[in-house]
Amino acid sequence: MVKSISVIGAGYVGLVTAACFAELGHRVTLLEIDGERLNALEQGVLPVHEPDLPELWQRHWAGGRLRLTSDYEQGLDGSEFVFIAVGTPSTRNGRPDLRWVRSAARGIAEAANGPIIVVNKSTVPVGTADLVAGIIARYKRSNHNFAVVSNPEFLREGLAVFDFLHPIRVVVGSADVNAAQAVAQLYEPLGCPIILCDARTAELSKYASNAFLAARISFINEIALLCDKLGVNVVDVARVVGMEPRCGDGYLGAGLGWGGSCLPKDVRGLIYMAASRGVSAPLIRSVLRVNLRQPRMVVAKLQKLLGSTKGKTVGILGLSFKPNSDDMREASSLSVISLLQEQGCRIKAYDPVAMKTAAKLMPTVTYCADAYEVAEGSDALILVTEWDEFKELDMRRISSSMNCPILIDGRNLYDPEQMIKAGFIYEGVGRGEISRKQPKAALVKHKIQLELEAVESIQS
Ligand code: UGA
Repeated sequence: MVKSISVIGAGYVGLVTAACFAELGHRVTLLEIDGERLNALEQGVLPVHEPDLPELWQRHWAGGRLRLTSDYEQGLDGSEFVFIAVGTPSTRNGRPDLRWVRSAARGIAEAANGPIIVVNKSTVPVGTADLVAGIIARYKRSNHNFAVVSNPEFLREGLAVFDFLHPIRVVVGSADVNAAQAVAQLYEPLGCPIILCDARTAELSKYASNAFLAARISFINEIALLCDKLGVNVVDVARVVGMEPRCGDGYLGAGLGWGGSCLPKDVRGLIYMAASRGVSAPLIRSVLRVNLRQPRMVVAKLQKLLGSTKGKTVGILGLSFKPNSDDMREASSLSVISLLQEQGCRIKAYDPVAMKTAAKLMPTVTYCADAYEVAEGSDALILVTEWDEFKELDMRRISSSMNCPILIDGRNLYDPEQMIKAGFIYEGVGRGEISRKQPKAALVKHKIQLELEAVESIQS
C-alpha cells in the first residue's frame, strides 16, 4: 500500500532513504533546510557522489513521487511516517552532536497536524529515542499520537542504494509495538529478516556493528605489522582466517585503515558512551589507536626506501576515504599528505571524483588530470584509495615515467610480483614476503642513486 513518508535531511542517508522509498512506490517528501542544497536538488544536482542515486532521483522526481521542501508544515502535511536522517557529527571528545536531531524533533512537534510515526534513521546514542519523545512531548501542538521508533541505517557509501534495496537485516526498535510493525511493513517487500526490539537495543546495535567492523580492520592491520616483520603475506593469512565461518571474510583488508563519516565517528561515540557510564572499553580504544598508526606506518615505509623524504615529490593515487565516493571525511589521504608535507615533500595527487572537495581542504597539493600525470617525475607513488580505474593503469608506463619507481600500495590493490615485473620497487601493507623477492638490482640501483645525491649535497 502506498504510504506518505517524509524524510528530514538531504545528506547521503536522507537522499538514499527518500529515493529508495519512492522506488518502493511510496509518496516521499524530502525536507531540507539548507537553501543552497535545496536549490541544487531542484535543478537535479545531488550534493553527494553516490552510484545509482542520480538515476533513481531523476526518475521519481520527474514522476512526481518525490517532493522537496524546506518548510516543516508542508513537509509533514498528511505524512504517516517521518524519518530523521540528519547529521550527528562527533564533538571533540567523541560525544555525538545531537543539535540537528533535537531541532528536527522540535520541528516535527510544532508542525505535524495528525498522528505520525517518528523514525530515527541517523546513528544516535542510546537513549536518543527517549530524548526525541521528550522534545516532542514538550513542543507538540496537538494531542495526536507521536510514536518514536529507532531504525538505524546500515548503508555503505558508494553502495548505499544497493544496500537499501537489498538489506541483510532491518532493525526496528520501539516501545510502541504497532508503530514498530508499521515501520517493519515498509521494508517487507525487500524480503530480509526484520528484527523487532526496543529502541535502546536498536541504537546500540548500530554502534556495535560499526565498531566491530572497525575492530576487524584494526585486527588485520595489527597482523599485517607482524607479517611485515616475519616475511609473511597478510593477504594469504586473511584468506585463511576468512574461510572459517566462525570468523567470516569481510573487513579483513589490511591497509591504511578505516576512515569516512561513520566508522571513526561511531567508534569514538561508543568510547564516549562507555566512558560516560564508567566503562573503560580498552578493546575499542585500541581499535582506534591501531587505526591512527596506519598512515604513519605507510609514510615510514617510504622514508625507509627513500632515505630522506625532504624535497621529494610524492604522488598520491586516490583521495576519498573509499572508492565510489567523493567523501573526504577522515580520509587516510589527509593524514598521509599532512605527514609528508611536514617532512618537506611536494605532493601531486589525482582522484576520479574527490579533487574538488580535497582542494578546499588541501590547497597546496598539485592536482593532476590522471594517474600518469601524477607519476611523471615523482620520487614515489602511494596508492591511498583503491578506485577500479587504478587497476587498469599501464604500470610499466607509470614506473618508467617516474624519477624513482617506488610504489607504496596502501590498500594492497596490486599483485606484488607483477609490480616488480613492471619495474617498481614495491611495498604493500603486511606483504613482508615481498622484500625477499624484490630484484636486488633495482634496490641497489636506487641505493646508489641515494648515495650519489648525498655526496652531491655534501659537496654543494
Ligand atoms: C560504514 C558501514 O560499513 C555501514 O554498514 C554503515 O551503515 C555506515 O558506515 C554508516 O554508519 O553510515 P561506510 O562508512 O560507507 O559504511 O564505509 P565502509 O565501506 O564500511 O568502509 C569504511 C572504511 O574502512 C573505509 O575507509 C575503507 O577503506 C576501510 N576498510 C574497509 C578497510 O580498510 N579494510 C576493509 O577490509 C574494509
